[in-house]
Amino acid sequence: MHNRALPVLLTAGLLAIVGCASTCPCQDSPDVKEGPVTVRTSPFGNLADGTAITRYTLRNSHGMTARIITYGATLTELLVPDRDGKPGDVVLGFDDLGGYLDRSPYFGATVGRVANRIAKGRFQLDGVEYRLATNNGPNFLHGGLKGFDKVVWQARAVESPDSAAVRFSYVSRDGEEGFPGTVMVNVIYTLTNDNVLRLDYSATTDRATPVNLSNHTYWNLRGEGDILGHVLWMDADRYTPVDDTLIPTGQMAPVKGTPMDFTTATAVGAHIQDVPGKPVGYDHNFVLKSGGGKLALALRLTEPGTGRQMEMWTTEPGIQFYTGNFLDGTVTGKRGVVYPFHGAIVLEAQHFPDSVNQPAFPSIVLAPGGTYTQTTLYRFTAK
Ligand code: BGC
Repeated sequence: MHNRALPVLLTAGLLAIVGCASTCPCQDSPDVKEGPVTVRTSPFGNLADGTAITRYTLRNSHGMTARIITYGATLTELLVPDRDGKPGDVVLGFDDLGGYLDRSPYFGATVGRVANRIAKGRFQLDGVEYRLATNNGPNFLHGGLKGFDKVVWQARAVESPDSAAVRFSYVSRDGEEGFPGTVMVNVIYTLTNDNVLRLDYSATTDRATPVNLSNHTYWNLRGEGDILGHVLWMDADRYTPVDDTLIPTGQMAPVKGTPMDFTTATAVGAHIQDVPGKPVGYDHNFVLKSGGGKLALALRLTEPGTGRQMEMWTTEPGIQFYTGNFLDGTVTGKRGVVYPFHGAIVLEAQHFPDSVNQPAFPSIVLAPGGTYTQTTLYRFTAK
């Protein structure tokens, strides 16, 4: 699409949202652009204070549809074709906003300002001690009480010739959730016509502060049941062992000879019972061989029944691999489906947990004048 067409089409999209709100709350707007990949918008409910939440739908001409809402810049739906070309939803979530507000264990969300755990909710920076919420046992988790997953992001469609994208932006104020500095953060979701969903993050700050962003999508390439039969290969020969509150001990231990070894493609369920800790399952950060800083293939996840395969590429140095160990059959999601124990895999590209307290880990401190960037993409095929 050409530049000059965008304002007209965006206006058309906006008019469609306004028109839709009064008549047909769940209908998508007309396409915001014409081409192989399209963007549509629709209302997705309101917060208690009346703030309207918008859903963006990206659709390509090869059977993929991605839906993202402005609440938490959250991926709510991802339709991916199986080996017969039949699209199926491969991410967990809710049909309506209420689910995300009341009971979401970070389904599909953008997490930050700091994803993962910070021990005891404390860290020191430039001689000052900062105290954060302890919202996960004794530790801080995923941005605190009201992290980036629970805020409303500004959004706008972004044009490009062979893809459709939505840029989500949020300003996290100085002192928010106990962190220093005002951080301006963007995450752009792009769907291409060759079945890649790409996430590009950037952030700047006016004071030194830790930043570690991630996406918390729960994957199930079969679309139902548990994920123990999914086959995983990961380009990681070390992981970061943890204490019983899931804080890294500081070691980077070899995966060889442990249940953490996915250096050859292995069923997720093959050694899951041998993973130390309760509840049973993986909830560990893997150290990618790439070391981060450049876009590299991190892992390949295959579901033999449907033939769906996902490659994940990232510029981050680590992946938190979590097998839905805290899903216990009490959460009912989209289409009334009850999500079972081990009903999904979360693969969080990020810096390592508790990095801000662990000098041997790559730093997550962003300084004024610097720009945080991350690219993580998911490439889908079926065979
Ligand atoms: C963590 C889990 C946690 C889950 C919350 C994951 O990133 O590693 O320990 O329970 O997020 O949904």
